[in-house]
Amino acid sequence: MSLLAESAMNKALLALLVLLLATAVILLAWAIAEPHLLDTDYFRLGPKGKSQRLRLSAASARPAQRDASSLRLAFFSDAHARFLFIPVRQLLARIRQAGVDAVVFGGDFSSSEHDLPKAMRYMRELAAGLSEAGIPLLGVMGNHDEYLSRDTAEQTGLILLSNDSVLLPAADGKPWLLTGLQDLKLGTADLTRGLATWHSAAARLLRPAEQQTIEGRPAQLPATPEQIPANRRIVLAHNPDTILSLPEGLFSWVLSGHFHGGQIRLPFRLEYKMLRHDRLCKQGYDQGPYTWHKSGLFISRGLGCVLLPFRFLSRPELSILEFSPDR
Ligand SMILES: [Fe+2]
Repeated sequence: MSLLAESAMNKALLALLVLLLATAVILLAWAIAEPHLLDTDYFRLGPKGKSQRLRLSAASARPAQRDASSLRLAFFSDAHARFLFIPVRQLLARIRQAGVDAVVFGGDFSSSEHDLPKAMRYMRELAAGLSEAGIPLLGVMGNHDEYLSRDTAEQTGLILLSNDSVLLPAADGKPWLLTGLQDLKLGTADLTRGLATWHSAAARLLRPAEQQTIEGRPAQLPATPEQIPANRRIVLAHNPDTILSLPEGLFSWVLSGHFHGGQIRLPFRLEYKMLRHDRLCKQGYDQGPYTWHKSGLFISRGLGCVLLPFRFLSRPELSILEFSPDR
Protein backbone atom coordinates (compact mmCIF):
# COMPACT_ATOMS: atom_id res chain seq x y z
CA MET A 1 0.00 0.00 0.00
CA SER A 2 1.38 3.40 -0.91
CA LEU A 3 2.00 6.01 1.78
CA LEU A 4 -0.74 8.15 0.25
CA ALA A 5 -3.33 5.35 0.42
CA GLU A 6 -2.27 4.45 3.99
CA SER A 7 -2.65 8.07 5.09
CA ALA A 8 -6.11 8.29 3.47
CA MET A 9 -7.20 5.10 5.25
CA ASN A 10 -5.94 6.37 8.62
CA LYS A 11 -7.88 9.60 8.12
CA ALA A 12 -11.03 7.65 7.24
CA LEU A 13 -10.64 5.43 10.35
CA LEU A 14 -10.10 8.50 12.52
CA ALA A 15 -13.20 10.18 11.06
CA LEU A 16 -15.25 7.01 11.71
CA LEU A 17 -13.96 6.88 15.29
CA VAL A 18 -14.83 10.54 15.88
CA LEU A 19 -18.29 9.96 14.39
CA LEU A 20 -18.91 6.93 16.61
CA LEU A 21 -17.69 8.81 19.68
CA ALA A 22 -19.85 11.84 18.89
CA THR A 23 -22.89 9.57 18.37
CA ALA A 24 -22.23 7.85 21.71
CA VAL A 25 -21.93 11.22 23.50
CA ILE A 26 -25.17 12.51 21.91
CA LEU A 27 -27.06 9.29 22.80
CA LEU A 28 -25.76 9.42 26.38
CA ALA A 29 -26.72 13.09 26.74
CA TRP A 30 -30.18 12.25 25.39
CA ALA A 31 -30.56 9.31 27.82
CA ILE A 32 -29.51 11.55 30.74
CA ALA A 33 -31.91 14.34 29.72
CA GLU A 34 -34.96 12.21 28.94
CA PRO A 35 -35.88 11.27 32.57
CA HIS A 36 -36.43 15.01 33.18
CA LEU A 37 -38.93 15.42 30.32
CA LEU A 38 -42.48 14.73 31.43
CA ASP A 39 -45.06 13.77 28.79
CA THR A 40 -48.74 14.37 29.53
CA ASP A 41 -50.88 12.08 27.39
CA TYR A 42 -54.67 12.37 27.16
CA PHE A 43 -56.93 9.45 26.28
CA ARG A 44 -60.66 8.80 26.24
CA LEU A 45 -61.30 5.20 27.27
CA GLY A 46 -64.65 3.58 26.53
CA PRO A 47 -66.24 0.16 26.98
CA LYS A 48 -64.76 -3.00 25.41
CA GLY A 49 -61.26 -1.49 25.25
CA LYS A 50 -62.27 1.35 22.94
CA SER A 51 -59.72 4.18 23.15
CA GLN A 52 -59.04 7.51 21.53
CA ARG A 53 -56.01 9.74 21.99
CA LEU A 54 -57.02 13.37 22.59
CA ARG A 55 -55.08 16.44 21.56
CA LEU A 56 -53.73 18.34 24.57
CA SER A 57 -55.46 21.60 23.67
CA ALA A 58 -58.83 19.89 23.16
CA ALA A 59 -58.55 17.90 26.38
CA SER A 60 -57.41 20.76 28.60
CA ALA A 61 -60.22 22.95 27.34
CA ARG A 62 -62.87 20.35 28.03
CA PRO A 63 -63.19 19.69 31.79
CA ALA A 64 -66.36 21.78 32.09
CA GLN A 65 -67.95 20.07 29.09
CA ARG A 66 -67.52 16.45 30.15
CA ASP A 67 -70.27 13.84 30.01
CA ALA A 68 -71.98 13.59 33.41
CA SER A 69 -71.29 9.85 33.42
CA SER A 70 -67.55 10.19 32.82
CA LEU A 71 -64.67 9.81 35.27
CA ARG A 72 -61.38 11.62 34.70
CA LEU A 73 -58.26 10.20 36.35
CA ALA A 74 -54.63 11.26 36.36
CA PHE A 75 -52.58 8.06 36.28
CA PHE A 76 -48.86 7.57 36.84
CA SER A 77 -46.78 4.63 37.94
CA ASP A 78 -43.28 3.51 38.92
CA ALA A 79 -41.93 6.47 40.87
CA HIS A 80 -38.68 4.68 41.81
CA ALA A 81 -37.73 7.62 44.00
CA ARG A 82 -33.93 7.28 43.74
CA PHE A 83 -33.93 8.16 40.06
CA LEU A 84 -37.08 10.29 39.94
CA PHE A 85 -36.42 13.66 38.31
CA ILE A 86 -39.93 15.08 37.87
CA PRO A 87 -40.56 17.76 40.53
CA VAL A 88 -43.75 17.36 42.55
CA ARG A 89 -44.80 20.91 41.72
CA GLN A 90 -44.60 20.13 37.98
CA LEU A 91 -46.70 16.98 38.42
CA LEU A 92 -49.22 18.90 40.55
CA ALA A 93 -49.49 21.72 38.00
CA ARG A 94 -50.20 19.26 35.15
CA ILE A 95 -52.77 17.38 37.23
CA ARG A 96 -54.58 20.55 38.30
CA GLN A 97 -54.65 21.81 34.70
CA ALA A 98 -56.39 18.60 33.63
CA GLY A 99 -59.27 18.95 36.13
CA VAL A 100 -59.30 15.34 37.30
CA ASP A 101 -61.59 13.58 39.81
CA ALA A 102 -58.79 11.53 41.38
CA VAL A 103 -55.11 10.63 40.98
CA VAL A 104 -54.05 7.01 40.75
CA PHE A 105 -50.56 5.57 41.30
CA GLY A 106 -49.62 2.18 39.86
CA GLY A 107 -46.94 1.07 42.36
CA ASP A 108 -43.14 0.91 42.82
CA PHE A 109 -42.68 3.82 45.21
CA SER A 110 -38.94 3.13 45.46
CA SER A 111 -36.43 0.60 44.22
CA SER A 112 -34.98 -0.19 47.64
CA GLU A 113 -35.43 0.37 51.38
CA HIS A 114 -32.75 3.07 51.21
CA ASP A 115 -34.88 5.23 48.90
CA LEU A 116 -38.11 4.79 50.84
CA PRO A 117 -37.86 8.08 52.83
CA LYS A 118 -37.43 10.02 49.58
CA ALA A 119 -40.45 8.23 48.07
CA MET A 120 -42.57 8.96 51.14
CA ARG A 121 -41.61 12.65 51.06
CA TYR A 122 -42.59 12.82 47.39
CA MET A 123 -45.97 11.16 47.99
CA ARG A 124 -46.65 13.27 51.11
CA GLU A 125 -46.00 16.47 49.16
CA LEU A 126 -48.15 15.26 46.26
CA ALA A 127 -51.03 14.14 48.50
CA ALA A 128 -50.95 17.47 50.40
CA GLY A 129 -51.05 19.50 47.19
CA LEU A 130 -53.91 17.40 45.85
CA SER A 131 -55.79 17.59 49.13
CA GLU A 132 -55.81 21.40 48.88
CA ALA A 133 -57.61 20.97 45.56
CA GLY A 134 -59.97 18.30 46.99
CA ILE A 135 -58.46 15.54 44.82
CA PRO A 136 -57.86 12.11 46.40
CA LEU A 137 -54.64 10.14 45.75
CA LEU A 138 -54.97 6.36 45.52
CA GLY A 139 -52.49 3.63 44.69
CA VAL A 140 -51.27 0.06 44.89
CA MET A 141 -47.90 -1.49 45.70
CA GLY A 142 -45.51 -2.74 43.02
CA ASN A 143 -43.04 -5.61 43.05
CA HIS A 144 -40.30 -3.32 44.44
CA ASP A 145 -42.36 -2.25 47.47
CA GLU A 146 -41.46 -5.17 49.72
CA TYR A 147 -40.08 -2.81 52.40
CA LEU A 148 -43.22 -0.68 52.56
CA SER A 149 -46.10 -1.29 54.97
CA ARG A 150 -49.65 -0.20 54.30
CA ASP A 151 -49.54 2.10 57.34
CA THR A 152 -46.35 3.83 56.17
CA ALA A 153 -47.79 4.36 52.69
CA GLU A 154 -51.07 5.72 54.04
CA GLN A 155 -49.30 8.12 56.44
CA THR A 156 -48.44 10.13 53.33
CA GLY A 157 -52.14 10.76 52.67
CA LEU A 158 -52.33 8.19 49.87
CA ILE A 159 -55.12 5.59 50.03
CA LEU A 160 -53.44 2.24 49.44
CA LEU A 161 -55.64 -0.39 47.83
CA SER A 162 -54.78 -4.02 48.47
CA ASN A 163 -57.44 -6.36 47.11
CA ASP A 164 -60.14 -3.87 48.08
CA SER A 165 -62.18 -1.09 46.49
CA VAL A 166 -63.37 2.50 46.71
CA LEU A 167 -66.06 4.45 44.90
CA LEU A 168 -65.25 7.53 42.86
CA PRO A 169 -68.25 9.82 42.32
CA ALA A 170 -69.39 10.92 38.87
CA ALA A 171 -71.58 13.93 38.09
CA ASP A 172 -74.56 11.75 37.08
CA GLY A 173 -74.73 10.28 40.61
CA LYS A 174 -73.67 6.81 39.48
CA PRO A 175 -70.20 6.22 40.91
CA TRP A 176 -67.25 4.38 39.42
CA LEU A 177 -65.53 1.54 41.23
CA LEU A 178 -61.74 1.45 41.60
CA THR A 179 -60.40 -1.91 42.78
CA GLY A 180 -56.70 -2.13 43.59
CA LEU A 181 -54.98 -5.52 43.55
CA GLN A 182 -51.86 -6.79 45.26
CA ASP A 183 -48.82 -7.27 43.06
CA LEU A 184 -48.30 -10.64 41.37
CA LYS A 185 -44.82 -11.13 42.84
CA LEU A 186 -45.34 -9.45 46.23
CA GLY A 187 -48.75 -10.86 47.13
CA THR A 188 -51.88 -12.34 45.58
CA ALA A 189 -53.88 -10.40 43.00
CA ASP A 190 -57.36 -11.44 44.15
CA LEU A 191 -60.12 -9.75 42.15
CA THR A 192 -62.88 -11.79 43.82
CA ARG A 193 -61.78 -10.47 47.21
CA GLY A 194 -61.30 -6.98 45.78
CA LEU A 195 -64.90 -6.95 44.53
CA ALA A 196 -66.17 -8.08 47.92
CA THR A 197 -64.16 -5.73 50.17
CA TRP A 198 -64.40 -1.99 50.75
CA HIS A 199 -61.29 -0.03 51.74
CA SER A 200 -61.91 1.74 55.05
CA ALA A 201 -61.74 5.12 53.22
CA ALA A 202 -64.51 4.19 50.75
CA ALA A 203 -67.28 5.98 52.67
CA ARG A 204 -65.03 9.01 53.35
CA LEU A 205 -64.43 9.43 49.61
CA LEU A 206 -68.16 9.67 49.03
CA ARG A 207 -68.69 12.38 51.62
CA PRO A 208 -67.76 15.41 49.46
CA ALA A 209 -70.50 14.38 47.07
CA GLU A 210 -73.31 14.07 49.58
CA GLN A 211 -75.84 15.16 47.02
CA GLN A 212 -75.11 12.28 44.68
CA THR A 213 -77.31 9.25 44.56
CA ILE A 214 -76.48 5.66 43.73
CA GLU A 215 -79.09 4.21 41.39
CA GLY A 216 -81.63 6.72 42.71
CA ARG A 217 -80.98 6.05 46.42
CA PRO A 218 -79.27 8.49 48.80
CA ALA A 219 -75.49 8.28 48.79
CA GLN A 220 -74.22 5.34 50.79
CA LEU A 221 -71.98 2.39 50.16
CA PRO A 222 -73.63 -0.61 48.52
CA ALA A 223 -73.22 -3.79 50.57
CA THR A 224 -70.37 -4.96 48.35
CA PRO A 225 -68.35 -3.37 45.53
CA GLU A 226 -69.62 -5.93 43.01
CA GLN A 227 -73.00 -4.17 42.99
CA ILE A 228 -71.41 -1.53 40.77
CA PRO A 229 -71.92 -2.58 37.11
CA ALA A 230 -68.86 -3.95 35.28
CA ASN A 231 -68.82 -1.08 32.75
CA ARG A 232 -68.02 1.27 35.66
CA ARG A 233 -65.32 -0.89 37.23
CA ILE A 234 -61.62 -0.02 36.90
CA VAL A 235 -58.93 -2.37 38.21
CA LEU A 236 -55.51 -1.10 39.30
CA ALA A 237 -52.77 -3.74 39.16
CA HIS A 238 -49.04 -2.98 39.03
CA ASN A 239 -48.00 -5.71 36.61
CA PRO A 240 -49.87 -5.81 33.26
CA ASP A 241 -49.52 -9.62 33.26
CA THR A 242 -52.14 -9.60 36.05
CA ILE A 243 -54.83 -9.35 33.35
CA LEU A 244 -53.83 -12.81 32.09
CA SER A 245 -55.36 -14.38 35.20
CA LEU A 246 -58.43 -12.15 35.62
CA PRO A 247 -61.84 -13.54 34.65
CA GLU A 248 -63.41 -11.79 31.64
CA GLY A 249 -66.43 -9.54 31.95
CA LEU A 250 -65.79 -8.34 35.52
CA PHE A 251 -64.23 -4.95 34.72
CA SER A 252 -64.01 -2.28 32.06
CA TRP A 253 -60.32 -1.35 32.24
CA VAL A 254 -57.13 -2.49 33.98
CA LEU A 255 -54.49 0.19 34.71
CA SER A 256 -50.89 -1.00 35.05
CA GLY A 257 -47.27 0.14 34.90
CA HIS A 258 -44.19 -1.99 35.62
CA PHE A 259 -42.69 -2.14 32.10
CA HIS A 260 -41.38 1.48 32.11
CA GLY A 261 -42.09 1.55 28.35
CA GLY A 262 -38.81 -0.38 28.07
CA GLN A 263 -37.02 2.58 29.77
CA ILE A 264 -34.04 2.22 27.40
CA ARG A 265 -35.58 1.06 24.18
CA LEU A 266 -33.55 -1.29 22.01
CA PRO A 267 -34.24 -2.84 18.60
CA PHE A 268 -36.29 -6.08 18.50
CA ARG A 269 -37.58 -5.52 22.07
CA LEU A 270 -34.22 -6.70 23.38
CA GLU A 271 -34.70 -4.72 26.60
CA TYR A 272 -37.65 -6.95 27.45
CA LYS A 273 -36.11 -10.18 26.16
CA MET A 274 -32.88 -9.69 28.14
CA LEU A 275 -34.20 -8.25 31.40
CA ARG A 276 -37.78 -9.39 31.98
CA HIS A 277 -39.65 -12.61 32.59
CA ASP A 278 -43.04 -10.95 32.06
CA ARG A 279 -45.14 -12.10 29.11
CA LEU A 280 -47.18 -9.21 27.73
CA CYS A 281 -44.24 -6.88 27.00
CA LYS A 282 -42.68 -9.54 24.79
CA GLN A 283 -45.97 -9.83 22.89
CA GLY A 284 -46.06 -6.10 22.12
CA TYR A 285 -48.29 -4.91 24.98
CA ASP A 286 -45.95 -2.48 26.71
CA GLN A 287 -47.34 1.08 26.79
CA GLY A 288 -50.61 2.91 26.16
CA PRO A 289 -54.15 1.55 25.67
CA TYR A 290 -54.96 -1.91 24.31
CA THR A 291 -58.12 -3.90 23.75
CA TRP A 292 -57.98 -7.10 25.75
CA HIS A 293 -60.84 -9.50 24.95
CA LYS A 294 -63.95 -7.51 25.97
CA SER A 295 -62.06 -5.06 28.20
CA GLY A 296 -59.20 -2.58 28.04
CA LEU A 297 -55.65 -2.55 29.38
CA PHE A 298 -53.76 0.71 29.85
CA ILE A 299 -50.01 0.55 30.57
CA SER A 300 -48.12 3.62 31.85
CA ARG A 301 -44.47 4.22 30.97
CA GLY A 302 -43.93 5.30 34.58
CA LEU A 303 -42.27 8.35 36.07
CA GLY A 304 -38.85 7.35 37.42
CA CYS A 305 -36.02 5.05 36.38
CA VAL A 306 -34.86 1.72 37.73
CA LEU A 307 -31.23 0.48 37.87
CA LEU A 308 -29.78 3.43 35.90
CA PRO A 309 -30.85 7.11 35.82
CA PHE A 310 -31.41 6.88 32.06
CA ARG A 311 -34.34 6.68 29.67
CA PHE A 312 -34.21 6.42 25.88
CA LEU A 313 -37.28 6.87 23.64
CA SER A 314 -39.49 6.24 26.68
CA ARG A 315 -40.19 9.56 28.38
CA PRO A 316 -41.73 9.75 31.88
CA GLU A 317 -45.50 9.83 31.57
CA LEU A 318 -48.52 11.32 33.30
CA SER A 319 -51.69 9.99 31.69
CA ILE A 320 -55.00 11.82 31.85
CA LEU A 321 -57.67 9.19 31.31
CA GLU A 322 -61.31 10.03 30.75
CA PHE A 323 -63.49 6.96 31.20
CA SER A 324 -66.90 6.68 29.62
CA PRO A 325 -69.25 3.80 30.56
CA ASP A 326 -71.04 3.57 27.24
CA ARG A 327 -69.27 5.21 24.32
FE1 LIG B 1 -41.05 -0.35 38.22
